[in-house]
Amino acid sequence: MTSTIDAFRATFEVEPGYLDWAAFGPVSPAVRDEVAADFEMLSTGRASSIAHVAAQQDETCALIARLLGAATDEVTLQPSATYGLMHAVYGLSGGVLASPAEFPNIPTAITRAADAFGRVRPQWLTAPDGVVTPEAVADALEEETAALVVSHVDFRTGYRVDLGALREAIGPDRLLIVDAVQSFGIVEADWQVADVVCGHGYKWLRAGRGTGFAWFGARARAAIQPVLSGFRGAEGGMTVDAVPPPAASAQAYTVSGSDAMLPARLAVALAEIDGVGVAAIEEGLAERTARVIEIAQRHDIPVVTPLDPARRAGIVALAPGSVAALGAELANRGVSVTTRSGLVRVAPHVGTDDETLGLLDDACAAFAQQRA
Ligand SMILES: Cc1ncc(COP(=O)(O)O)c(C=O)c1O
Repeated sequence: MTSTIDAFRATFEVEPGYLDWAAFGPVSPAVRDEVAADFEMLSTGRASSIAHVAAQQDETCALIARLLGAATDEVTLQPSATYGLMHAVYGLSGGVLASPAEFPNIPTAITRAADAFGRVRPQWLTAPDGVVTPEAVADALEEETAALVVSHVDFRTGYRVDLGALREAIGPDRLLIVDAVQSFGIVEADWQVADVVCGHGYKWLRAGRGTGFAWFGARARAAIQPVLSGFRGAEGGMTVDAVPPPAASAQAYTVSGSDAMLPARLAVALAEIDGVGVAAIEEGLAERTARVIEIAQRHDIPVVTPLDPARRAGIVALAPGSVAALGAELANRGVSVTTRSGLVRVAPHVGTDDETLGLLDDACAAFAQQRA
């Protein structure tokens, strides 16, 4: 590793009170500098400068591939995580199992695919407390189930599923399609038990919007029809006066090119993560989430997220009874969180400082006093 966790922590320039990393990640200063430099290069009209910015696409795919333990040509860049997920879900044939309580990108893609293409049949999983356990999956499997679509970390509860156990539950032949938006780059995982992994750079990676990606493993490429494949996804690349078949590589699951600065932003953000290592980030983040849990429990605010660090990542969901009352105390102190579905979602990052956790503590104390 080329950087220490302290050096990584020092790159956070966020104002105190920011605890909403699960919604949006304030952009890394290195990414901000990269954008300025790339704009400069793209404004010259010099062919070498334009080519230099464009060339970062390969580096981005290589970095993602390294973090996934995959091959570079299995990785695609996407406008957002949902685009990658739609390439996967729309091309399936058979039953597609998912919890309806997932982030809406999953149930929406399955429903729209079923409506548009008769080949996809939604199989809604009744998961206790919305948690996709191997037991719930095993109970719901049917002969014709072709795939399980699941978030590695649930956007609402912060529950981190056990990917290995889910793979065991579905067996070797069904596809495991994973939304890694709330986990990629911040917790270690055996991604290779999955077939498709989709993510983006605008939360935990600090790369800003437009930085989606999706990995399609060999099993996925064999089973998923590239029904949304565009002209840049064709074999041999862009071709005029003919329509070649979709590429044999994962490139088939793409539509068109993107702004060249998007991959460059993601590359810079991923290089920072790679430099310190995901294991060190996971450890640093587990300490911050443990502090959030300790603060909530000290003020008798129920914690919905699992206490076991192996079953959570960066989200701590609180069930205070009155979301409006705790939300108001937090807002009064300038603390940013997400309040939704009767929960207050607190999401620190490695660089969250003690001052921010102090503000959370004060808000929880005021809420507890009001409740008493
Ligand atoms: C679990 C999960 N998946 C997907 C998304 C949306 O991703 P994108 O905007 O990249 O499509 C979010 C955004 O909050 C999310 O929490």
